[in-house]
Amino acid sequence: MKKNPIILGIETSCDETAAAIIEGEENNIPKILSNIVSSQFDVHKEFGGVVPELAARSHAEKIDLITKEAFKKSGTSINDIDAVAATAGPGLIVCLTVGLNFGKTFSKSLNKPFIAVNHLEGHALSPKLNSKIDYPYLLLLISGGHTQYLCVKGLGHYERLGTTIDDALGEAYDKTAKLLGIEFPGGPKIEKLAEIGNPNQFKLPKPILNKGGCNLSFAGLKTAVLRIAKNIRSNEEKFNLASSFQKTIEKILHEKTKIAFKEFKKKNKNNKNIFVIAGGVAANKGIRNILNKLSKEHNFETIFPEISLCSDNAAMIAMVGLEKYKLGLFDGLDFKVNPRWALDEKAKFLKGAGVKL
Ligand code: KG4
Ligand code: ZN
Repeated sequence: MKKNPIILGIETSCDETAAAIIEGEENNIPKILSNIVSSQFDVHKEFGGVVPELAARSHAEKIDLITKEAFKKSGTSINDIDAVAATAGPGLIVCLTVGLNFGKTFSKSLNKPFIAVNHLEGHALSPKLNSKIDYPYLLLLISGGHTQYLCVKGLGHYERLGTTIDDALGEAYDKTAKLLGIEFPGGPKIEKLAEIGNPNQFKLPKPILNKGGCNLSFAGLKTAVLRIAKNIRSNEEKFNLASSFQKTIEKILHEKTKIAFKEFKKKNKNNKNIFVIAGGVAANKGIRNILNKLSKEHNFETIFPEISLCSDNAAMIAMVGLEKYKLGLFDGLDFKVNPRWALDEKAKFLKGAGVKL
């Protein structure tokens, strides 16, 4: 096993076609040699969400080119690669298949190990590309498809403490944006509008705030936004609704994170309290600020990925590949796409109407 292995990462689980090359360094943070991401905003914006077949076609058209660009930018050649890591799930099956097959073919042609990566583990480990982090740590994963509090005990060892019982947080941002007539993906634009609006004009619900431990719910919030959005008459009111939504999310995360802190501390009595926040929504500055402040009050050290590594990218996939490479955890070329691959496979399914908390 090489001390400074070079890993190629491939990501196509949703609407970003991405390839990255990173180099491991003994006792140090890995070096990102290249990190190329091509977003498909223009392909999907007229539909208000990701259309799986169009996304898969676009991945198939671009993955070759994006990977070539990753090699060019990194200054490495294909013979320098020590392992190929590709996302195998969760995500859209037709999209995952493109990147997974591409990664397998690449590894086979180079005769180098292949590593199948869980996309969520990529987010979970993304801050390791800019900070040294020891296990265990508390993770809040907030993306377009997932919202969970997890205790990360080690590579591949996750215990879910809480999850959304309906919409993911990024989905709640995107749906609110759509109701306000903002193009997909609306999360970052809602954040901007929220800064100029009055957060106190509209009172929005905070579902299951006082029950269900650190489980979360956002569907009721969306219904309330829909009701108010129908009667909005001015831009000022639109900004105020965006701002009220942002403030409500901050309050929900504030309360639920306090519960997650308690649960994490109960399970990890003698360890340092580390709190990692990752996923696309972790780019939101309002959320970063309240979680930083809360962590200080509760003696947790907060760690965020760099803003550019919050949303989907292949450097985080290569990061998981690097950790698995060091442990010799390789996969066969018969590894199947797993569109519902959970981080904690023992956790109860908690979604849908009538769920018992
Ligand atoms: O992690 P990600 O790139 O993709 C998934 O794995 O889902 O997350 C994308 C989500 C989208 O819903 C997007 O609107 C949201 O992250 N997002 C944000 C911000 N930046 C991205 N939401 C709120 N504020 C932001 N600044
Ligand atoms: Zn993601």
